[in-house]
Amino acid sequence: MRKIYVFDTTLRDGEQSPGVNLNTREKVEIAHQLERLGIDRMEAGFPAASPGDLAAVNAVAKAVKNVTVIGLSRSREQDIDAVKEALKGAQDPCIHIFLATSPIHRQHKLRMDRAQVLDTARSAIRYAKKTFSKIEFSLEDAGRTEYDFLVEMVNMAVEEGAAVVNIPDTVGYLSPYEYGNIFKHLKENVHNIDKVQLSAHCHNDLGMATANTLAAILNGADQIEGTINGIGERAGNTAIEEIAMALETRQEFFQAKTSLQLSEIARTSRLVSRLTGMVVPGNKAIVGANAFAHESGIHQDGMLKEKTTYEIMTPESIGLKESKLVLGKHSGRHAFRERLIELGYELEEEALNRAFAQFKDLADKKKEVTDEDLLAVIEEKLQDAPEVFKLESIFVTYGDESIPTAKVRIATLNGDTVEQKAEGNGSVDAIYNAIDQVSGEEVTLSDYSIKSVTHGKDALGEVHVVLTQNQISVQGRGVSTDILGASARAYVDGLNKLIEKRKTYTNRVNVNL
Ligand code: KIV
Ligand code: ZN
Repeated sequence: MRKIYVFDTTLRDGEQSPGVNLNTREKVEIAHQLERLGIDRMEAGFPAASPGDLAAVNAVAKAVKNVTVIGLSRSREQDIDAVKEALKGAQDPCIHIFLATSPIHRQHKLRMDRAQVLDTARSAIRYAKKTFSKIEFSLEDAGRTEYDFLVEMVNMAVEEGAAVVNIPDTVGYLSPYEYGNIFKHLKENVHNIDKVQLSAHCHNDLGMATANTLAAILNGADQIEGTINGIGERAGNTAIEEIAMALETRQEFFQAKTSLQLSEIARTSRLVSRLTGMVVPGNKAIVGANAFAHESGIHQDGMLKEKTTYEIMTPESIGLKESKLVLGKHSGRHAFRERLIELGYELEEEALNRAFAQFKDLADKKKEVTDEDLLAVIEEKLQDAPEVFKLESIFVTYGDESIPTAKVRIATLNGDTVEQKAEGNGSVDAIYNAIDQVSGEEVTLSDYSIKSVTHGKDALGEVHVVLTQNQISVQGRGVSTDILGASARAYVDGLNKLIEKRKTYTNRVNVNL
């Protein structure tokens, strides 16, 4: 069975999803989970974008051990130097250099002719070779590049010693037949093509990213690139879980497989969704809440008689289990800690204490505390921004014939406690107005979303907000059995993160990849 290498770019292309902004701790946490999932290569970020991005890539490089860690670079010496700096401490570093090759990009973006593109890329690979033994070179917008120029560029990358050559369909333009054909053409026309691995990188603008990637595999791609849950620029990237499960479920057809631990898929998906704030749609293939739900009577009847009538893969295969009742209000700190370790979290003493206090609080309000609840609670308690503002209480009055009013009590870092009352168009608006008056910060609420963590009337509600101030944008997350409480916590969390981020903010290079 042919092995297909998995290059995960959740932390780079995935992080380019509008509104997503992962901090270093969140990146490292996702990186650890990706390592558990068994991906082969991990693109941790774009170090030249800002000192913060460089530091985050460095933290990931030092944190993971069994995965190749990759930094993205334009075809420029200063970007390559930034990747060199960021990957210090990585066990198996690799640089990913790219340059656009299509006529549209050459003419309008780069203002270069073919010869200049070829020379610029060659010089960049040569320069990187002085530092890196592993280089991936990407022909940005390869999908809209002339075949003869693709061959010329790939020949050059092979000559210069790139280990992997990536053929992105950057704008998600091609059909599976066309994309597969590019790989076939390169296999047949590039000298020494077996000296490099060919990689597929697809975007989902026309909803064909998974199909295109599978077509590339059928035509000789050795590596696939994608993200968890398919997050990424615009309509997103190829969803890694879809490729892994397609190869697994249709092994006899594809004759290829990945080395992923498939039973880690559900957990990885949940973690990425929670930390990025990108909710997975219910009908999303493999990881959507309905992906294994059977609604119609005919289907349910078939399932009861023989599961394979309507189930082509099992929920267990991706690690979905019935959410267990784990702990109740009488559970002690020791049991709590053990359960967290089973779930993959070993918390430092202080974080453990904070999480335990919130668990107790939750167990008082909610009869059953499930694994999902626990994960939501501890994620909230793992914030690394200092609590400049700490929400102590909220009081809201609402009636359909009165103006919604909220009173908040907030403790500040300098030891004061401030109470503030405000009105708003709705309860959440009133709460946010009151918090704004305490904080004195002028922020824009760029996004607000709410979902329930588990089922039932007493389920935990999880709110995600995106707050923006000038060019800085952060995410806040709040969890509570009450959605107004969760809304308030998410907003305060966002404010704390904003204040922290502002201290180290330097403009991010705006690369439109
Ligand atoms: O989509 C794209 O072309 C990219 C490149 C940087 C590989 O993300
Ligand atoms: Zn991309």
